[in-house]
Amino acid sequence: MKIDPWSSSTYQDYTRLRDEFGIEEFSENQWKRLPHPHRLIRRGVVFGHRGFSMILDAVEHQKPWAILTGLMPSGRMHLGHKMVIDEVIYYQSIGADVFIAVADIESYGTRGYSLKETRNLALDEYIKNYIALGLKPENCRIYFQSKNESVKDLAFLLGKKVNWSQMVSTYGFTGSTNMTHVLSPLIQTGDILHVQLPTYGGVRPVLVPVGVDQDPHIRLSRDIAQAHRLFNVMKTKDNRIGVFIKPDEHVAALLDHAEDLLHALGYHKLQRITEYKALYIDDAQEKDIMMLDQRFAESEPSFDGYGFLAPSATFHRFMTGLTGGKMSSSKPESAIFLSDTPAEAKKKIMQAKTGGAVTLEQQKKEGGNPDACMIYELMLYHLIDDDNELKTIYQSCRNGTQMCGMCKKKTAELMERFLTDIDEKRKQADDVLDEYLE
Ligand code: TRP
Ligand code: SF4
Repeated sequence: MKIDPWSSSTYQDYTRLRDEFGIEEFSENQWKRLPHPHRLIRRGVVFGHRGFSMILDAVEHQKPWAILTGLMPSGRMHLGHKMVIDEVIYYQSIGADVFIAVADIESYGTRGYSLKETRNLALDEYIKNYIALGLKPENCRIYFQSKNESVKDLAFLLGKKVNWSQMVSTYGFTGSTNMTHVLSPLIQTGDILHVQLPTYGGVRPVLVPVGVDQDPHIRLSRDIAQAHRLFNVMKTKDNRIGVFIKPDEHVAALLDHAEDLLHALGYHKLQRITEYKALYIDDAQEKDIMMLDQRFAESEPSFDGYGFLAPSATFHRFMTGLTGGKMSSSKPESAIFLSDTPAEAKKKIMQAKTGGAVTLEQQKKEGGNPDACMIYELMLYHLIDDDNELKTIYQSCRNGTQMCGMCKKKTAELMERFLTDIDEKRKQADDVLDEYLE
């Protein structure tokens, strides 16, 4: 199995995917520590993560952190696209700085749109909807890849620690892949890491919430961040905690600094072994490692390093299309667009694939299957925020007291309310657009 960010494949077995790629389970023990967790989190739609404990630590100790997402403008914005921004708005409400990249270079390189087309599409289809959905302008920056010098510089500079075979094995590039496409994962790494540069808020935890198709980019960004670190705090195979110097130059000066920093932090049982470029901290405990690593990262810019902390990520499931398969802008009947009229949406809802039985009699007797029902998915992902209410619907579907006709009708009504509200708010977004743009 391979994850290809540019294919239109659907994924079925998320548990297998998670295990195969070493994504960690996003467990209740972890998300329970978030204040009023979002429904996509409570309901297991967000099913995996990498490095989320760093974000929890920042949230719990009210330390600065950021969230970054990117949008690739291609086609109209639908409910599948809405999930990421729902998450972003939630995290903004609990204190994250927000950055949103418009992936115009990626769209140009991989989808064949011009930069101008992507600009208009991004503003009209995506950004206005983000604002209508509740994104706030405070501590929020939306920028275009093609206009952001820091992002582009990083793409060139960070590429030094990645080689061609790695790109080929990760992305399946071939001799005929165009070079802008080849560069686009590095631009995305630039998106993800530039927010830790001093002018964008400095070294701090960064969360990137994505669909699982983006995992190759997440792995690349985490590897690259790691590869550019000067100091590494970790536990060795023989169970000793130590600081290890990555570069081969200025080792003595870096070890001096490590010693000073550790003394200042109250550690004194230190053993320096210069030939290993190591400083062992025998009075450190395993639970100190994350904190220590962050302190060293923060000090790296004064040694001409970046100090990038490995970005954290969460992964969400994709929405199923109304007709089964994937929800996709290229199949309008599979998707509900945020700019659909209530009548258009209703028509698609009435024709959607449900988990109902073949006959009414049978459904009364055996019940329906909400787990294989697009209508239920609409309620679960988007339309019903109250967990008890959703549970009641689930049960009355299962026990055969709720029939699909009524259920669809009710869903269409909820959708109408949502679309009308969004349309209203989108009209006002024009006036405030400038407050968000870089
Ligand atoms: N590649 C993403 C997509 O296809 C868009 C994107 C660009 C992105 N930069 C990003 C996503 C940074 C997350 C973080 O949708
Ligand atoms: Fe889906 Fe509702 Fe029918 Fe159950 S009753 S299968 S939830 S449409």
